[in-house]
Amino acid sequence: MAPQTPQAVIASRAGSYPVFQLKLDSQGITNGVLPLWVALQASWKGALPQWLALQAMAKSVLSLWELALQAMGAWTRMIRFPNRAGARQHKFAWLGLMFSLAAGAQTPGPVRSLPLSQVKSGLSFSGSDVQALQRDEFANPAQLWLSQGAALWGQAAANGKSCQSCHGDVASLKGVATRYPAIDRASGRLLNLEDRINHCTVNHQQDTVLAPESDALLGLTWYVTQASKGLPIRVDIGGAAWPHWQAGADVFQRRQGQLNLSCAQCHDQHFGQRLYTDALSQGQPNGYPVYRLEWQKPGSLERRLRSCYAGIRAEIPPWGATEMRQLALYLMWRGEGLPIEVPAVRK
Ligand code: HEC
Ligand code: HEC
Repeated sequence: MAPQTPQAVIASRAGSYPVFQLKLDSQGITNGVLPLWVALQASWKGALPQWLALQAMAKSVLSLWELALQAMGAWTRMIRFPNRAGARQHKFAWLGLMFSLAAGAQTPGPVRSLPLSQVKSGLSFSGSDVQALQRDEFANPAQLWLSQGAALWGQAAANGKSCQSCHGDVASLKGVATRYPAIDRASGRLLNLEDRINHCTVNHQQDTVLAPESDALLGLTWYVTQASKGLPIRVDIGGAAWPHWQAGADVFQRRQGQLNLSCAQCHDQHFGQRLYTDALSQGQPNGYPVYRLEWQKPGSLERRLRSCYAGIRAEIPPWGATEMRQLALYLMWRGEGLPIEVPAVRK
């Protein structure tokens, strides 16, 4: 068989989308592309007053926009919908998509369902008793774990190395907690702060992995987090982190569990309202590890997320699952700028 030319391929495809082809030929070229080109050239050469050139450009961009919408409409009509309402809904979905693409073109970066100006720590949704406990340095039960973390920091492992012997004062890790989860350059894996600490325990201290939710791991994580107290959270979602961000964003929006609810439904759309005895917060990650009164002990963000999965009767991913780190990355991005609260208390 003779190799197909690109033109032949386009012609055969266009043949199956008659409406699209027609609009592109007649309206697209004459109302959209040509005037845009002419106006651009004219303004480059200074042949047109700027306001006129701008007006012409705006007009042709608008008609290209209209054309795109019509083409989408035609496409939608072609996949036969069982009823008209379905077709209309899909048309609006396309419209939404086009608008969000347009918005994305103006403000670089992904679209935020919760604007940064509205982002609020879980503390502000807590009762005054919880707020007081978090503020009171001496009554705050977290101090026990924090001092354990401080002790472990200086304690040498069998190979003679302590965290301190390599990192010096914990202040050298200032700001670190604001940017996790992060990609580990060596392995390419997405690590949360607990994973990162365990990475050092295993590879640099030749010690065994600290178990999830163990007092040792929570204490050390808290101790390291304390070096970032009050600093704004800001994670990197570019490069190798990007697919993880996307996966996290998907989980956040996905309905799941027997209650068929998404994280977004509770934490984006209904924060501030009451659920049973709790005031729903925005589900922000800036106070983790946290001392949770219900647990009577501290716990990690992963543990908190597991509670939310359980709350909607969803299948809980195993400990250490990448999904939980992806979700944490998304949450950190979503709460960008919130100060690290340490040690935080929640109900
Ligand atoms: C049925 C509603 C509901 C759903 C769905 C839900 N949560 Fe929660 N979530 C809660 C409640 C209630 C709390 C405890 C009170 C609070 O902070 O809102 C909570 C707390 C949290 C917190 C702790 C906030 C803090 O300040 O300590 C985070 C983080 C969180 N949720 C994330 C999520 C994520 C991610 C999902 C999706 C996997 C999710 N939640 C799904 C109800 C929900
Ligand atoms: C033998 C030296 C050594 C020891 C001991 C060590 N670390 Fe590290 N740590 C490193 C190096 C090197 C890195 C940079 C990344 C890497 O290669 O693992 C690092 C990275 C880190 C990071 C991430 C810093 C960042 O900027 O992202 C944290 C957090 C950390 N270590 C905590 C600890 C804790 C807690 C301990 C004790 C349990 C510890 N480390 C023990 C050498 C060490």
